[in-house]
Amino acid sequence: MSKSTTIEDFRNHKKKQTKFACLTAYDASLSALMSKAGVELILVGDSLGMVVQGHDSTIPVSMEDLLYHLRCVKKGNLGSHIMADMPFMSYATENLAYDNAMRLMQAGANSVKVEGGEWILKTTELLSQRGIPVCAHLGLTPQSINRLGGYYVQGRDLEDKNRILSEAKQLENAGAEIILLECVPASLAEEISSSLKIPTIGIGAGSATDGQIMVCYDAIGAYSWDDQPQPKFVKNFMNESNSIFEAFEKYVSEVKNLKFPSADNSF
Ligand code: KIV
Repeated sequence: MSKSTTIEDFRNHKKKQTKFACLTAYDASLSALMSKAGVELILVGDSLGMVVQGHDSTIPVSMEDLLYHLRCVKKGNLGSHIMADMPFMSYATENLAYDNAMRLMQAGANSVKVEGGEWILKTTELLSQRGIPVCAHLGLTPQSINRLGGYYVQGRDLEDKNRILSEAKQLENAGAEIILLECVPASLAEEISSSLKIPTIGIGAGSATDGQIMVCYDAIGAYSWDDQPQPKFVKNFMNESNSIFEAFEKYVSEVKNLKFPSADNSF
């Protein structure tokens, strides 16, 4: 990838109805490979708490952890857009959100991601007015795992579905540049994507979102699901590849050609 990928590029994908591929990364080596393979957005996700640090949730991840991995990814990046997750409680008040979003942007992020609906409207508006592109994460929001009670599909009943749809619209009006939908029925993700002008990114949200994202280790089979069933939305692209680079290329190609996610990967 030669030039830096911007929010405008994601808007253009939506206008042209073409898809874009995103992956998480936490280090320089894999982020360089995925940039070269055509991954347009790299998320330095707080999933690092689970897949790098070995915790059972994302809650222990600190700002210092996120900043460390963001700097590593930035060094390897070859022109992908870098989105940084705001860790648990790092945007619990507007003042915290200002300070922490500033630190992430100064360390090399091109945008920040926050989890939540109505309660992050004001924060989204304030950050966006100050030039920080915000991605709002709806559906299954892992930082709320203790309230949700488990990693379950969200938006299945009418009330929950209407709430998520309404929050997506309000977040767009508040200035969000991207909405990320995790583990929601494909029909709901389709309705949200077609109702909004801003691009959507999905994980376990069917094929109608403008972009797709996956945890990079899931995409290359670097996990052990021995004690639990593999989530439906995970696909190991190493199965038909000879190298990690090829697996990333295959992921990008399948996202762009609408081969991934299939109905089997969706709810
Ligand atoms: O932290 C993360 O990896 C994420 C993705 C699952 C979207 O938020």
